[in-house]
Amino acid sequence: MNRKLIIIAGMAVSVTIASAAATRTAEPSRYTNLKVLPKNISSKELQSIMTDDFEDALGVSCGFCHANNKDGHGLDFASDAKPEKEISRTMMRMTLGVNKTYLKLKHPQLGSAALVVSCNTCHKGQAFPDGDVPK
Ligand code: HEC
Ligand code: HEC
Repeated sequence: MNRKLIIIAGMAVSVTIASAAATRTAEPSRYTNLKVLPKNISSKELQSIMTDDFEDALGVSCGFCHANNKDGHGLDFASDAKPEKEISRTMMRMTLGVNKTYLKLKHPQLGSAALVVSCNTCHKGQAFPDGDVPK
């Protein structure tokens, strides 16, 4: 990665953080089944966690964790029917716990650039980080 790209990436991160802070209070949450993420999370923050942290870190798309709608059209994001979703909650709690307990971050939050350990630290684009299942 060249320096220019790193600077642009850094700017994008700060813009994201600033706008995330601004939207957090502005917009009431429309999510019905959050057990780990803050219930008042903005849709912008949630989408960025799902896309930039989960999809990219695991090399999967939404349907890896989210079950299909009963009518067969699209995904039912609130449903817990797929075990991968509950495994992810455990992974989210573990990730927050490692950052807080061992790496001494005061208020670790998923999606935050301040995390020392994130999904990608272990997964690096693979759902199975031990790598014994072919992609
Ligand atoms: C690696 C697994 C994983 C992937 C991939 C993933 N999600 Fe999620 N998603 C979760 C988990 C886990 C939750 C619940 C978080 C909680 O309980 O706090 C969730 C919650 C949500 C919710 C909130 C539903 C509600 O009403 O409670 C939405 C919307 C959502 N995801 C959208 C998406 C979209 C869109 C994508 C693809 C761009 C995606 N997710 C990819 C694991 C995933
Ligand atoms: C400390 C390393 C580590 C971190 C951090 C981590 N994972 Fe994992 N994850 C693993 C390992 C190792 C496995 C494989 C466990 C197994 O083989 O039973 C795994 C498995 C999974 C699986 C199951 C894959 C499958 O198909 O069975 C999901 C889903 C998952 N992780 C999501 C996440 C998400 C989302 C995050 C970030 C919130 C995350 N992980 C953070 C190490 C990690």
